[in-house]
Amino acid sequence: MTRGVWSWVGRSVAVVALGTSLLGCDSGERSTFADDDGVGAGSNTSGGNGSSSGGTATAGNAPNGQAGSGAPTDSLASKYAGYFPIGAAVGSWHLDSLGQVLEQDFNHLTCENAMKIQDIHPAEATFEWAEADRVADFARQNGMKLTGHALLWHRQAPAWMFEGVTAGDAASLETLKIRLKSHIEAMVERYADVVDNWDVVNEALSDTAGKTYRDGAEQSTWYELFGSEEYIYWAFQYAKDALEANAVGSSTGKLYYNDYTATLKADKILTLLSWLKDDKGLTIDGVGFQSHEQLSWPSTTDLQVAIDKVTAAGYKVKISELDVTVYADYSTGSFVAAPAVELTPELEARQAKRFADLFTLYRKNKQHISSVTFWGISDDQTWLDNEPVPGRNDHPLLYDDAHAPKAARAAIMDF
Ligand code: GLA
Repeated sequence: MTRGVWSWVGRSVAVVALGTSLLGCDSGERSTFADDDGVGAGSNTSGGNGSSSGGTATAGNAPNGQAGSGAPTDSLASKYAGYFPIGAAVGSWHLDSLGQVLEQDFNHLTCENAMKIQDIHPAEATFEWAEADRVADFARQNGMKLTGHALLWHRQAPAWMFEGVTAGDAASLETLKIRLKSHIEAMVERYADVVDNWDVVNEALSDTAGKTYRDGAEQSTWYELFGSEEYIYWAFQYAKDALEANAVGSSTGKLYYNDYTATLKADKILTLLSWLKDDKGLTIDGVGFQSHEQLSWPSTTDLQVAIDKVTAAGYKVKISELDVTVYADYSTGSFVAAPAVELTPELEARQAKRFADLFTLYRKNKQHISSVTFWGISDDQTWLDNEPVPGRNDHPLLYDDAHAPKAARAAIMDF
């Protein structure tokens, strides 16, 4: 059966005939939201229906810093204390608007954007630390740890990094390596105390069947300039060296590779991991499964196979960017934008069941899963309001537009 999946990131569309081919079909568009995943000014704000099934709560609009009325008094992070940390990707907006929910339900954080190179290191001599510092300080004050996301990514990478660098020119490639190394050293130096795992490299694998690494044709300037996947090794080596220089032994357990559609890319992930290990002598610690999931794809059976492959090779898995869209734009096989929908009780219940199934899977694999992180907290601030369809309100998270807990939250608490 042909199933459609969009390769969420890179604003490209991958139409997938499962088990046969993976065709990357790039929209060609660099997102207008590239800076900001739809969070903040210009992002979608829906009226919010405030409804919630599943015995949780109904809310009106929440005042700043507060959960919606009917906020739960129990804690997701406490409930999962014997399993894994529960994280959220956040920025200043979340600290201002949902600080209380964050403290109550979560015990791990990722900067949604603030640690990406473009945001934190916009010019060679300029670091913009403020937002990442704020998130790091919030974590320190609340006894939480952070995921350092991301030290190298082909997207949200500033032009200065590549300026004057020419493919095939060894001297200029040295310049690029020095820039990358000093960026990584600065990040590790500042946040080593609070980051317990680093997404050292994000999304370096190809969406195309038969091709392992993302290359220039799939927007990787890194690959294009190096002429190979060699840059991936350097990023991991520099991260390891920077951690070890900071505190001997402190790189242990912290070096992760992060990507989407792990069920489709598991074999490529293994190729990457064994290349690093066998050819480069560098064993990393784990793999981030981004987990931007759909209501019925991928199956938990296929996810288990992917988890098994990675863990059998000796690596940890983290669920690094979890959300569950309510749309199925590929239900016909090719991309057809589904019309916007309200979060009806029926839809909310369906989504709750999906979250429950995913968490059943995660709990079953708890010895291999180092953390589970949601890509946001509430439906009024999600990158999915703008991708793959700009301005279409999505409902992918645990709290609704009015910051009331959804049925999904109740469902994953119910075990
Ligand atoms: C990828 C990245 C994240 C975020 C999401 C949503 O998954 O790793 O940082 O940008 O895309 O846009």
